[in-house]
Amino acid sequence: MERSPRVVILADARAVARELARRVGETLRAKPDLVLGLPTGRTPLLLYQELVELYRRGEADFSRAITFNLDEFLGVSPGHPGSYRSFMRRFLFDHVNADPSRTNFLDGAAADPQEECERYEHEIDRAGGIDLQILGIGTNGHIGFNEPAAELEARTHRVRLKPETRRSNAALFGGDAETVPAEALSMGMGTILQARAAVLIATGRSKALCVERLVNGPITTLLPASFLQLHRNADIYLDEEAASALGGTR
Ligand code: GLP
Repeated sequence: MERSPRVVILADARAVARELARRVGETLRAKPDLVLGLPTGRTPLLLYQELVELYRRGEADFSRAITFNLDEFLGVSPGHPGSYRSFMRRFLFDHVNADPSRTNFLDGAAADPQEECERYEHEIDRAGGIDLQILGIGTNGHIGFNEPAAELEARTHRVRLKPETRRSNAALFGGDAETVPAEALSMGMGTILQARAAVLIATGRSKALCVERLVNGPITTLLPASFLQLHRNADIYLDEEAASALGGTR
């Protein structure tokens, strides 16, 4: 039986970005109203550059695409420069023809976070579910903001961030981890796993160990990304550094 997730190793981070951008472009051509799940973080920056390039070359049309971002910081208003909504505008949406009424975000400043999570689940359902969910991975194995824990939540929910996660997001908040919100809203593991296809991208040596555990380890809530082993159509695209701990075991 074919193993899940499938592992694709490419020469470097640029090649990972190009390969995934090519796939997104091709999928968009086949289904212009594609429902895309999108991540933030340093890893997808090259992907977003490549998607902007594709758009400029006339090879990707985002006008009918529907997008859902994975997560958002709690207490951060949509216009705040540290919000993931601002991140997406800065690196992708301001540079392509995405329709703002079709780009969806969790509102970190919503008066009732629980209700906001329910609204998001409802919107995803109304869009017909996510066709292609793109994911990064935290060095502790989190996806979205589903942090390692004894239990994981299936649906979009409020989450407390780990110190390492706040540190790795510090750049968005002036470089100080203490100023990164302590909580966030995130799609749940079920929301993510229900996507019809998922692609996780990881680049650089700092991701080698969590990638090795994701590919070869048991499925455990202590490494949320390991649940991708249960997905029927999941790929991970790695550069050689992120794949460096896999050895000959793949
Ligand atoms: C944040 C995001 C995750 C992302 C992770 C990795 O915590 N919520 O979705 O995968 O960062 O970030 P980076 O790509 O910068 O390593």
